[in-house]
Amino acid sequence: MLKPKKITLVYYSGTGCTKEVCLCFAQQLAKKGLESKIIGLENHDPGKLKQPDLLVIFSPVYAFRLASITEKWVKGLPKSNRTMVAIVPVSGGGDISPNTACTIFSRRILKKKGYHLIYERMIVMPSNFGVDAGKEMNQQLIHILPEKTKEMIEDILTGEHRFLLAKPLDRFLAMLGKGEHLGARFFGASIHPNGTCTHCGQCSQKCPTRNIKMDGGMPKFGFRCILCLRCIYGCPVHALKPGILSSVILKDGFHLQQLKKQESEELSQNQSNFDQKGAWKGVSDYLE
Ligand SMILES: Cc1cc2nc3c(=O)[nH]c(=O)nc-3n(C[C@H](O)[C@H](O)[C@H](O)COP(=O)(O)O)c2cc1C
Repeated sequence: MLKPKKITLVYYSGTGCTKEVCLCFAQQLAKKGLESKIIGLENHDPGKLKQPDLLVIFSPVYAFRLASITEKWVKGLPKSNRTMVAIVPVSGGGDISPNTACTIFSRRILKKKGYHLIYERMIVMPSNFGVDAGKEMNQQLIHILPEKTKEMIEDILTGEHRFLLAKPLDRFLAMLGKGEHLGARFFGASIHPNGTCTHCGQCSQKCPTRNIKMDGGMPKFGFRCILCLRCIYGCPVHALKPGILSSVILKDGFHLQQLKKQESEELSQNQSNFDQKGAWKGVSDYLE
Protein backbone atom coordinates (compact mmCIF):
# COMPACT_ATOMS: atom_id res chain seq x y z
CA MET A 1 0.00 0.00 0.00
CA LEU A 2 1.46 3.38 -1.03
CA LYS A 3 1.40 6.09 1.63
CA PRO A 4 2.38 9.35 -0.12
CA LYS A 5 2.69 12.12 2.47
CA LYS A 6 2.97 15.03 0.05
CA ILE A 7 0.53 14.90 -2.86
CA THR A 8 0.40 17.66 -5.48
CA LEU A 9 -2.35 17.83 -8.10
CA VAL A 10 -1.54 20.00 -11.10
CA TYR A 11 -4.15 20.79 -13.70
CA TYR A 12 -4.77 22.80 -16.81
CA SER A 13 -8.35 23.23 -17.96
CA GLY A 14 -9.67 25.21 -20.92
CA THR A 15 -13.41 25.07 -20.26
CA GLY A 16 -13.68 23.56 -16.79
CA CYS A 17 -13.87 19.79 -17.32
CA THR A 18 -10.31 18.96 -16.30
CA LYS A 19 -10.53 21.28 -13.29
CA GLU A 20 -13.68 19.41 -12.26
CA VAL A 21 -11.83 16.08 -12.52
CA CYS A 22 -8.94 17.43 -10.43
CA LEU A 23 -11.24 18.84 -7.73
CA CYS A 24 -13.20 15.60 -7.59
CA PHE A 25 -9.93 13.67 -7.23
CA ALA A 26 -8.91 15.96 -4.33
CA GLN A 27 -12.29 15.37 -2.64
CA GLN A 28 -11.95 11.61 -2.95
CA LEU A 29 -8.41 11.80 -1.52
CA ALA A 30 -9.75 13.84 1.40
CA LYS A 31 -12.35 11.13 2.07
CA LYS A 32 -9.40 8.77 2.53
CA GLY A 33 -7.80 11.20 4.96
CA LEU A 34 -5.20 12.32 2.39
CA GLU A 35 -4.48 16.00 1.93
CA SER A 36 -3.38 17.37 -1.43
CA LYS A 37 -2.14 20.65 -2.80
CA ILE A 38 -3.81 21.87 -6.00
CA ILE A 39 -1.93 23.95 -8.55
CA GLY A 40 -3.37 25.48 -11.73
CA LEU A 41 -0.45 25.33 -14.15
CA GLU A 42 -1.48 28.38 -16.20
CA ASN A 43 0.28 30.76 -13.85
CA HIS A 44 2.78 28.41 -12.34
CA ASP A 45 6.51 28.14 -12.91
CA PRO A 46 7.27 24.39 -13.07
CA GLY A 47 10.91 25.09 -12.16
CA LYS A 48 9.69 26.11 -8.69
CA LEU A 49 7.70 22.94 -8.01
CA LYS A 50 8.52 21.62 -4.53
CA GLN A 51 8.97 17.92 -5.15
CA PRO A 52 6.02 15.97 -3.74
CA ASP A 53 5.94 12.21 -3.14
CA LEU A 54 3.13 11.92 -5.66
CA LEU A 55 2.45 14.33 -8.51
CA VAL A 56 -0.78 13.92 -10.45
CA ILE A 57 -1.01 15.82 -13.75
CA PHE A 58 -4.48 16.50 -15.19
CA SER A 59 -4.80 17.80 -18.74
CA PRO A 60 -7.35 17.92 -21.55
CA VAL A 61 -6.54 16.01 -24.73
CA TYR A 62 -6.12 18.31 -27.73
CA ALA A 63 -5.46 16.64 -31.08
CA PHE A 64 -4.49 13.28 -29.55
CA ARG A 65 -1.91 14.87 -27.22
CA LEU A 66 -1.96 16.60 -23.89
CA ALA A 67 -2.70 20.31 -24.35
CA SER A 68 0.41 22.18 -25.51
CA ILE A 69 0.40 24.31 -22.35
CA THR A 70 0.65 21.12 -20.26
CA GLU A 71 3.44 19.70 -22.43
CA LYS A 72 5.32 22.97 -22.03
CA TRP A 73 4.87 22.89 -18.24
CA VAL A 74 6.15 19.29 -18.09
CA LYS A 75 9.21 20.32 -20.12
CA GLY A 76 9.97 23.03 -17.54
CA LEU A 77 9.98 20.66 -14.54
CA PRO A 78 13.21 20.28 -12.61
CA LYS A 79 14.94 16.90 -12.38
CA SER A 80 13.79 14.52 -9.68
CA ASN A 81 14.72 11.08 -8.48
CA ARG A 82 12.00 10.50 -5.96
CA THR A 83 8.65 11.80 -7.24
CA MET A 84 6.04 9.35 -8.48
CA VAL A 85 3.79 10.67 -11.25
CA ALA A 86 0.31 9.77 -12.41
CA ILE A 87 -1.13 11.33 -15.58
CA VAL A 88 -4.87 11.81 -16.01
CA PRO A 89 -5.77 12.92 -19.53
CA VAL A 90 -9.33 14.20 -19.91
CA SER A 91 -10.92 13.71 -23.31
CA GLY A 92 -14.30 13.91 -24.99
CA GLY A 93 -13.80 10.71 -27.00
CA GLY A 94 -12.36 8.26 -24.46
CA ASP A 95 -9.62 5.70 -24.31
CA ILE A 96 -9.67 4.88 -28.00
CA SER A 97 -7.23 5.12 -30.85
CA PRO A 98 -5.48 7.56 -31.38
CA ASN A 99 -6.24 9.25 -28.02
CA THR A 100 -4.31 6.36 -26.45
CA ALA A 101 -1.08 8.03 -27.60
CA CYS A 102 -1.81 11.35 -25.88
CA THR A 103 0.68 10.94 -23.05
CA ILE A 104 3.68 9.55 -24.92
CA PHE A 105 5.52 12.87 -25.34
CA SER A 106 5.07 13.99 -21.74
CA ARG A 107 5.83 10.49 -20.53
CA ARG A 108 9.17 10.53 -22.33
CA ILE A 109 10.14 13.90 -20.84
CA LEU A 110 9.15 12.85 -17.33
CA LYS A 111 11.22 9.69 -17.57
CA LYS A 112 14.26 11.63 -18.86
CA LYS A 113 13.97 13.96 -15.87
CA GLY A 114 13.94 11.03 -13.46
CA TYR A 115 10.27 10.95 -12.45
CA HIS A 116 8.71 7.55 -11.80
CA LEU A 117 5.60 7.23 -13.90
CA ILE A 118 3.31 4.85 -12.03
CA TYR A 119 -0.14 5.32 -13.51
CA GLU A 120 -2.15 6.72 -16.42
CA ARG A 121 -5.87 6.64 -16.95
CA MET A 122 -8.16 8.52 -19.31
CA ILE A 123 -11.20 10.25 -17.86
CA VAL A 124 -14.01 11.13 -20.25
CA MET A 125 -15.89 14.39 -19.86
CA PRO A 126 -18.34 16.19 -22.17
CA SER A 127 -16.75 17.11 -25.49
CA ASN A 128 -16.35 20.83 -26.12
CA PHE A 129 -15.02 20.37 -29.65
CA GLY A 130 -16.67 19.63 -32.99
CA VAL A 131 -19.53 17.34 -32.02
CA ASP A 132 -21.66 17.32 -28.89
CA ALA A 133 -22.18 13.86 -27.36
CA GLY A 134 -25.74 14.83 -26.37
CA LYS A 135 -27.32 15.81 -23.10
CA GLU A 136 -27.94 12.30 -21.80
CA MET A 137 -24.41 11.08 -22.37
CA ASN A 138 -22.93 14.28 -20.95
CA GLN A 139 -25.03 13.94 -17.81
CA GLN A 140 -23.91 10.34 -17.34
CA LEU A 141 -20.27 11.40 -17.71
CA ILE A 142 -20.64 13.99 -14.96
CA HIS A 143 -22.57 11.56 -12.77
CA ILE A 144 -19.97 8.80 -12.99
CA LEU A 145 -16.94 11.04 -12.27
CA PRO A 146 -16.72 10.48 -8.48
CA GLU A 147 -16.80 6.72 -8.99
CA LYS A 148 -14.05 6.86 -11.64
CA THR A 149 -11.80 9.09 -9.53
CA LYS A 150 -12.34 6.85 -6.51
CA GLU A 151 -11.26 3.85 -8.61
CA MET A 152 -8.13 5.68 -9.76
CA ILE A 153 -7.13 6.52 -6.20
CA GLU A 154 -7.67 2.90 -5.08
CA ASP A 155 -5.49 1.75 -8.00
CA ILE A 156 -2.71 4.22 -7.24
CA LEU A 157 -2.63 3.53 -3.52
CA THR A 158 -2.66 -0.23 -3.97
CA GLY A 159 0.23 0.07 -6.43
CA GLU A 160 -1.64 -1.05 -9.52
CA HIS A 161 0.29 0.02 -12.60
CA ARG A 162 -1.89 1.02 -15.49
CA PHE A 163 -0.86 2.82 -18.67
CA LEU A 164 -2.48 3.89 -21.91
CA LEU A 165 -1.53 1.52 -24.71
CA ALA A 166 -0.71 3.21 -28.00
CA LYS A 167 -0.25 1.42 -31.31
CA PRO A 168 2.38 2.73 -33.78
CA LEU A 169 -0.33 4.42 -35.88
CA ASP A 170 -1.68 6.22 -32.79
CA ARG A 171 1.82 7.48 -32.04
CA PHE A 172 2.14 8.74 -35.58
CA LEU A 173 -1.21 10.54 -35.42
CA ALA A 174 -0.29 12.07 -32.07
CA MET A 175 2.88 13.36 -33.70
CA LEU A 176 0.72 15.00 -36.37
CA GLY A 177 -1.35 16.49 -33.54
CA LYS A 178 1.54 18.88 -33.02
CA GLY A 179 0.35 20.42 -36.31
CA GLU A 180 -2.98 21.27 -34.70
CA HIS A 181 -1.14 22.77 -31.74
CA LEU A 182 0.60 25.07 -34.24
CA GLY A 183 -2.57 25.68 -36.30
CA ALA A 184 -4.21 26.86 -33.07
CA ARG A 185 -2.14 30.02 -33.31
CA PHE A 186 -3.78 30.93 -36.62
CA PHE A 187 -7.21 29.96 -35.34
CA GLY A 188 -6.72 32.35 -32.43
CA ALA A 189 -5.48 35.17 -34.59
CA SER A 190 -8.60 34.83 -36.75
CA ILE A 191 -11.06 35.38 -33.85
CA HIS A 192 -12.87 38.71 -33.97
CA PRO A 193 -15.68 40.32 -31.98
CA ASN A 194 -18.98 41.14 -33.69
CA GLY A 195 -21.16 44.17 -33.02
CA THR A 196 -22.65 42.72 -29.82
CA CYS A 197 -19.32 42.98 -27.95
CA THR A 198 -19.87 44.97 -24.73
CA HIS A 199 -16.14 45.62 -24.21
CA CYS A 200 -16.29 43.86 -20.83
CA GLY A 201 -12.75 42.48 -21.26
CA GLN A 202 -13.56 39.08 -19.69
CA CYS A 203 -12.03 37.25 -22.66
CA SER A 204 -8.79 39.13 -22.17
CA GLN A 205 -8.69 38.60 -18.39
CA LYS A 206 -9.37 34.86 -18.63
CA CYS A 207 -7.18 33.85 -21.59
CA PRO A 208 -4.65 31.26 -20.32
CA THR A 209 -1.89 32.49 -22.64
CA ARG A 210 -2.65 36.24 -22.39
CA ASN A 211 -3.27 36.25 -26.12
CA ILE A 212 -6.06 38.83 -26.00
CA LYS A 213 -5.33 42.51 -25.49
CA MET A 214 -8.01 45.17 -25.16
CA ASP A 215 -7.38 47.85 -27.77
CA GLY A 216 -9.71 50.85 -27.72
CA GLY A 217 -12.24 48.72 -25.79
CA MET A 218 -12.19 45.90 -28.34
CA PRO A 219 -10.42 42.54 -27.90
CA LYS A 220 -7.46 41.98 -30.23
CA PHE A 221 -6.10 38.48 -30.73
CA GLY A 222 -2.43 37.58 -31.16
CA PHE A 223 -0.68 34.37 -32.21
CA ARG A 224 -0.39 32.63 -28.83
CA CYS A 225 -3.77 30.84 -28.93
CA ILE A 226 -3.88 27.19 -27.80
CA LEU A 227 -7.46 26.68 -29.01
CA CYS A 228 -8.91 26.08 -25.54
CA LEU A 229 -12.13 27.88 -26.60
CA ARG A 230 -12.54 29.52 -23.19
CA CYS A 231 -12.98 32.98 -24.70
CA ILE A 232 -15.57 31.90 -27.25
CA TYR A 233 -17.72 29.79 -24.89
CA GLY A 234 -17.23 32.16 -21.97
CA CYS A 235 -18.25 35.38 -23.76
CA PRO A 236 -21.44 36.56 -21.98
CA VAL A 237 -22.95 37.88 -25.25
CA HIS A 238 -21.49 35.28 -27.67
CA ALA A 239 -19.69 38.01 -29.57
CA LEU A 240 -16.52 36.11 -30.51
CA LYS A 241 -16.34 34.30 -33.86
CA PRO A 242 -13.36 32.56 -35.44
CA GLY A 243 -12.55 33.46 -39.05
CA ILE A 244 -11.50 29.84 -39.77
CA LEU A 245 -12.60 26.39 -38.56
CA SER A 246 -15.88 27.67 -37.15
CA SER A 247 -17.28 24.11 -37.35
CA VAL A 248 -15.27 23.12 -34.25
CA ILE A 249 -17.43 25.41 -32.09
CA LEU A 250 -20.51 23.70 -30.65
CA LYS A 251 -23.52 25.60 -31.91
CA ASP A 252 -25.22 25.70 -28.51
CA GLY A 253 -22.00 26.67 -26.75
CA PHE A 254 -20.36 24.75 -23.93
CA HIS A 255 -21.19 25.39 -20.28
CA LEU A 256 -20.05 22.75 -17.85
CA GLN A 257 -21.72 24.39 -14.85
CA GLN A 258 -25.09 24.36 -16.67
CA LEU A 259 -24.60 20.70 -17.57
CA LYS A 260 -23.77 19.93 -13.93
CA LYS A 261 -26.89 21.73 -12.73
CA GLN A 262 -29.07 19.84 -15.23
CA GLU A 263 -27.39 16.58 -14.26
CA SER A 264 -28.31 16.92 -10.60
CA GLU A 265 -31.90 17.94 -11.47
CA GLU A 266 -32.69 15.49 -14.24
CA LEU A 267 -30.55 12.37 -14.15
CA SER A 268 -32.71 10.41 -11.73
CA GLN A 269 -35.68 10.67 -14.16
CA ASN A 270 -33.56 9.87 -17.12
CA GLN A 271 -31.55 6.69 -16.56
CA SER A 272 -31.09 4.71 -19.73
CA ASN A 273 -28.61 2.63 -21.66
CA PHE A 274 -26.89 3.89 -24.76
CA ASP A 275 -27.06 2.28 -28.13
CA GLN A 276 -24.78 4.99 -29.50
CA LYS A 277 -21.78 2.79 -30.24
CA GLY A 278 -19.94 3.84 -33.40
CA ALA A 279 -18.86 7.47 -33.16
CA TRP A 280 -19.12 7.51 -29.37
CA LYS A 281 -17.83 3.99 -28.74
CA GLY A 282 -15.04 5.21 -26.46
CA VAL A 283 -17.57 7.07 -24.35
CA SER A 284 -20.13 4.27 -24.09
CA ASP A 285 -17.38 1.76 -23.23
CA TYR A 286 -16.25 4.11 -20.46
CA LEU A 287 -19.78 4.41 -19.07
CA GLU A 288 -20.47 0.67 -19.09
C1 LIG B 1 -8.66 22.04 -29.59
C2 LIG B 1 -9.31 20.83 -29.00
C3 LIG B 1 -8.91 19.57 -29.44
C4 LIG B 1 -9.50 18.43 -28.90
N1 LIG B 1 -9.04 17.21 -29.31
C5 LIG B 1 -9.56 16.11 -28.76
C6 LIG B 1 -9.04 14.84 -29.14
O1 LIG B 1 -8.09 14.70 -29.92
N2 LIG B 1 -9.63 13.74 -28.63
C7 LIG B 1 -10.70 13.83 -27.76
O2 LIG B 1 -11.22 12.79 -27.35
N3 LIG B 1 -11.19 15.03 -27.35
C8 LIG B 1 -10.64 16.17 -27.82
N4 LIG B 1 -11.10 17.39 -27.41
C9 LIG B 1 -12.16 17.46 -26.39
C10 LIG B 1 -11.62 17.77 -24.98
O3 LIG B 1 -10.52 16.94 -24.68
C11 LIG B 1 -12.69 17.56 -23.92
O4 LIG B 1 -13.86 18.25 -24.23
C12 LIG B 1 -12.23 17.98 -22.52
O5 LIG B 1 -13.23 17.59 -21.61
C13 LIG B 1 -12.00 19.48 -22.41
O6 LIG B 1 -11.46 19.76 -21.14
P1 LIG B 1 -11.46 21.22 -20.49
O7 LIG B 1 -12.89 21.63 -20.30
O8 LIG B 1 -10.75 21.04 -19.20
O9 LIG B 1 -10.74 22.13 -21.41
C14 LIG B 1 -10.53 18.54 -27.91
C15 LIG B 1 -10.92 19.82 -27.49
C16 LIG B 1 -10.32 20.95 -28.01
C17 LIG B 1 -10.76 22.30 -27.52
